[in-house]
Amino acid sequence: MRPPENCNLCPLSEGRTNIVMPHGDASSGIVFIGEAPGEKEDLQGIPFVGKAGKILDGFMEEEGLQRSRVVITNTVKCRPPGNRDPTEEEMAACRKFLNSELSDARLIIGLGKSACKNLMGYDGRMADIVNKRTAIEIDGKMIPFIPTYHPSACIYNKSARTVLRETIRTVREELETLE
Ligand code: URA
Repeated sequence: MRPPENCNLCPLSEGRTNIVMPHGDASSGIVFIGEAPGEKEDLQGIPFVGKAGKILDGFMEEEGLQRSRVVITNTVKCRPPGNRDPTEEEMAACRKFLNSELSDARLIIGLGKSACKNLMGYDGRMADIVNKRTAIEIDGKMIPFIPTYHPSACIYNKSARTVLRETIRTVREELETLE
């Protein structure tokens, strides 16, 4: 389900250039959820094409996971002003669109705090939950969920890089066994 072009369910509509919809291959059943579009994503209408996207692309390449094989999306589809975190209200307003992207997923990866807050209701330290697989309920169905670091958290944090690469390796292995 796509938000209408004139969607104004939350204040993020005021500053957007494009609604940034999921990208990738939904038939894989694997969905990575980031936080929110940044400037480049807003301009191009594609998730993770800016700095964080380059980091994610680099890890995927190193771990042998083709980005085009999985789906990449965000908790909200419009860019928050100044790249601030999306609020709980904004994520809630966009949630029905996100849920429609997740209903057929086999494995969901939450990239960073906003995704984990929105999907797991978790508001603690990421270090305590990263790569600990759990399950979340989407429209009455339990779907495996792996919390991990957001690519931006990896810029100055070597252990976050190790964790995110490990997450991506797990996803690649899982994708191979599903094929
Ligand atoms: N950060 C995100 O969480 N999502 C994007 O699409 C880009 C940067």
